[in-house]
Amino acid sequence: MIQVRNLTKRFGAKTAVNNLSFDVQPGLVTGFLGPNGAGKTTTLRAIVGLVRPDAGAVTVNGTNYHDILAPTHEVGALLEAKAYHPGRRARDHLVALAQASRIPNRRVDEVLGLVGLADAGKRKAGTFSLGMAQRLGIAAALLGDPPVLLLDEPVNGLDPEGIVWVRTLMQALAAEGRTVLVSSHLMSEMALTATHVVVIGRGKLIADSSIEELVRASSGSRVRLRTPLAGALVPHLLAAGGTVQPGDDGALMVSGLEPDAVGDIAFKAQAPVHELARLEASLEEAFMELTQEDSEFRAQGVTGAPAARQGWGAAARGGADGAGAPAGTGTGGQAGAWPGAPAGDGAPAGTSAPPAQGWPAARQGWSGPA
Ligand SMILES: Nc1ncnc2c1ncn2[C@@H]1O[C@H](COP(=O)(O)OP(=O)(O)OP(=O)(O)O)[C@@H](O)[C@H]1O
Ligand SMILES: [Mg+2]
Repeated sequence: MIQVRNLTKRFGAKTAVNNLSFDVQPGLVTGFLGPNGAGKTTTLRAIVGLVRPDAGAVTVNGTNYHDILAPTHEVGALLEAKAYHPGRRARDHLVALAQASRIPNRRVDEVLGLVGLADAGKRKAGTFSLGMAQRLGIAAALLGDPPVLLLDEPVNGLDPEGIVWVRTLMQALAAEGRTVLVSSHLMSEMALTATHVVVIGRGKLIADSSIEELVRASSGSRVRLRTPLAGALVPHLLAAGGTVQPGDDGALMVSGLEPDAVGDIAFKAQAPVHELARLEASLEEAFMELTQEDSEFRAQGVTGAPAARQGWGAAARGGADGAGAPAGTGTGGQAGAWPGAPAGDGAPAGTSAPPAQGWPAARQGWSGPA
């Protein structure tokens, strides 16, 4: 287990890590995520004593790294793939590390085989591609068979087969009860690899939760409902606090309500349900939403969250006039454009019915009372 407590690290005027606290539990892969410059590498370096904190502390299995008697056997770390002498053969690099920690050469050959470099051991490490260097770095981290592993972007530069291999390896190591903390920028990969994630931005903690919770909490998660009485149902969904957008095939895409609630509302409104499903946001969407404010470096013109999603969140709720529809979409309208829509003004007070002319081009959707 790794415990990071109120960790702060400044480089001159720059606060790289700011009062950061989190635990990394054994037995599962924990993803360490954050935009460029968020402080991930600095935190990982602090865990293995390569960065001296300005405040706070980090312990590995209850001990400060500097007080661990045989660190290679306690913590394995891949922080910099090409941290080797380029003129040294790969195997000799590992032998040197092994000898410093009284690890037998047989373990060197074992880890070379484990990372798929058995045939490349005699090559000078300086001739290695980035992917091979990552493999060598992982071999070095595994040398002492440590119960705690820190990997800073281990899949960087790996080919698809290599990515699957690292994923399987990390999961297998965690399943053996080890503590595995891995940073990555590849959200789709993290979604497949990690069970838990710690998200930081500008050195501060943004989220510390299971991937499942994180994704579920994202406003990108929504419920898809197909009913022939969509028009009649929309006002009820809005009144219950949901935000509704049209799906491509006439289905309703509802955010802000759980599937159970949507089903119950449809039942009460006597709208036959032909399809009801929860559509989860991707980890990438959840990540973008969480870190929007905390990305230091962003290309101009790129807003962070996918533009198509902007109508979904709470920000889109409620027009300035309180009618509920986003500006420019028109409110009220003739709900008759919707099959089964109630005649006249059937919408609950403070909500708006879909306009007669179909959905607005911007597809910003409709939302309930602000
Ligand atoms: N040795 C250093 N001297 C000065 N500033 C540093 C040093 N190391 C890191 N920083 C700064 O601290 C901040 C955090 O850097 P860090 O490398 O920890 O971020 P990161 O989350 O690993 O980013 P990336 O995703 O790009 O790898 C950055 O602004 C970086 O410029
Ligand atoms: Mg980094």
